[in-house]
Amino acid sequence: MLKRAYITTPIFYPNARPHLGHAYTATIADILARYRRAVGDEVYFLTGVDENTEKVARAARAAGQETGPYLDSVVSSFKDLFSEKKLNISYDQFIRTSDEKVHWPGAQALWQKLVEAGDIYHASYEGLYCVGHEAFITEKDLVDGKCPDHNEAPEHLKESNYFFRLSKYTSEIKKRIESNELEIIPAARKNEILALLEHGLQDVSFSRPADKVSVGVPVPGDTSQKMYVWCDALANYISALGYGRTDDTLFKKFWPSDVHIIGKDILRFHAGIWPGMLLSAGLPLPKKIFVHGFITSGGKKMSKTLGNVIDPDALIVEYGGEAVRYFLARHISPFEDGDITLESFKNAYNADLANGLGNLVSRVMKMAQEHHHPASVPMFEVGTPTESVGAEEGMLKDFNIQAYAEYVSGEITRFDKRIQETEPFKLVKKDKAAGQKIIAELVNGLSRIAELLQPILPATSAKIQDAITANKMPDQPLFPRK
Ligand code: MSP
Repeated sequence: MLKRAYITTPIFYPNARPHLGHAYTATIADILARYRRAVGDEVYFLTGVDENTEKVARAARAAGQETGPYLDSVVSSFKDLFSEKKLNISYDQFIRTSDEKVHWPGAQALWQKLVEAGDIYHASYEGLYCVGHEAFITEKDLVDGKCPDHNEAPEHLKESNYFFRLSKYTSEIKKRIESNELEIIPAARKNEILALLEHGLQDVSFSRPADKVSVGVPVPGDTSQKMYVWCDALANYISALGYGRTDDTLFKKFWPSDVHIIGKDILRFHAGIWPGMLLSAGLPLPKKIFVHGFITSGGKKMSKTLGNVIDPDALIVEYGGEAVRYFLARHISPFEDGDITLESFKNAYNADLANGLGNLVSRVMKMAQEHHHPASVPMFEVGTPTESVGAEEGMLKDFNIQAYAEYVSGEITRFDKRIQETEPFKLVKKDKAAGQKIIAELVNGLSRIAELLQPILPATSAKIQDAITANKMPDQPLFPRK
């Protein structure tokens, strides 16, 4: 049955060039989107940038640039990383929250709904604000007076704002999460958010005085205030579909989302504030939120100070975008934190791609080119791509990208062993028909591997399929040894 799937990544803060954490979220979302397309679902895949943040304004100032041109240059570095020649992220839309035509009407229409529900009220706020988090924090979150995540002292704010009556929705959100109407995956993250809900959600300050922030969506009916960045950012998931605009066809077609893919640090915004806003507006909640862990390097958080930051672009220059996609899928657990070092990357590249997959393709296609005549030797029955990918559906359906990639790796090893055991290149000289039969079996196996690899390595999968169709070894090794 044809299903619709609206898949989203978080919108990224464009205060600096994208890092490997961004590349991870985008890549796993892309793998899931490609997989859903391969099984015949109608997919709409959204990504983009969260521009209305003080972080950007500050970074621009530090770079001695105006915010607009600074944003344009960072946004192009995200688009470049996501482009076909690099990570090949097959998004249908890249939203920019500075876009007054695309995003603002939806963000403002949603605000209006919260007002109509009686959930926005005026109050004064006094407390701490961490620009790094773009969130209000408390004394107990601090270590030595600083936010431990951003190593920065928070700002002390005392201002008159609008508040969102989030507390009203605690029990309803809890009910929806407990019953899996809003499914939080994996279970450990579901428990984490339920524990938080146990304490009750507090109302949130939902706006900032316009003269205190440099960027932001104006609050409807009160230009002296701008929307709080998370209120505006979360709205991107529906504004992108045309919510609040004349043409809301996509919204009608694709909302509620099938899955929001996010990292663990932004769970409470997505499983607390966001469902609260939707409930207040009378809109359906997303079906699932998939929460991945963090990428560390050498067991430590990547940081400039530690000098362990791995730049996705540098890896791509050296090894290619497909190799980066492969590593992220195969060697990082989607459910927990995962580690990468330049050394582990190189080892995995050589073992799994140069010696593993690349070598298998060369060996099989060399034999095929010399001894296999596709027209005369019957191929084994292979399923259509849809059926083949569907067979492993369970793993990708459960977001277990790593288990799926392991399974494909296992298939590569299995066919390697088959070559060693049967030595068809020798057999074909003694018993031509028997040798050719095994070669045909190997070509079939390769064809299935290519189909299975399609969501993870789309370009490599196409190259393998082309080689099979041409019955010819690829001109260049797919993954040269490094
Ligand atoms: N702008 C907000 C999201 C708004 S969504 C309505 C934001 N942006 S972010 O740029 O800081 O992070 C974007 C995504 O990258 C998040 O899912 C975050 O978890 C992920 N990552 C950031 N660093 C990461 C790692 N080191 N490892 C894996 N992912 C991490 O939050």
